[in-house]
Amino acid sequence: TSAFPIISQKEVTTHRSLEHGIWVTFKGGVYDITKFVAMHPGGDKILLAAGGALEPFWALYAVHNQEHVLEMLSEYKVGEL
Ligand code: HEM
Repeated sequence: TSAFPIISQKEVTTHRSLEHGIWVTFKGGVYDITKFVAMHPGGDKILLAAGGALEPFWALYAVHNQEHVLEMLSEYKVGEL
């Protein structure tokens, strides 16, 4: 069991702006990365994933395939799909 609420894919898609918050999904987790966006080493490219899945983008940018990146992401978890 998990302490995180279940969030629908539809709900995630409504969070793709700084105004409404920027959420992404990764392996069944939902992350509110609004506060991380300005700190992203890869700049505004991160916004391409806003409201949807990280997987297709991280498949292209393998720099994310590291433990320290996953630890960073985990700090922003708000729910599960
Ligand atoms: C680099 C985190 C989403 C594109 C990085 C790095 C981190 C990071 C920590 C530096 C890695 C290192 O050098 O060790 C994240 C997180 C994301 C995210 C937490 C989502 C929550 C994305 C997306 C894209 C992207 C969606 C592309 C559409 C890049 C690129 C770099 C990068 C191109 C390389 C920047 C450079 O070294 O010049 N990201 N990223 N990232 N990211 Fe992301």
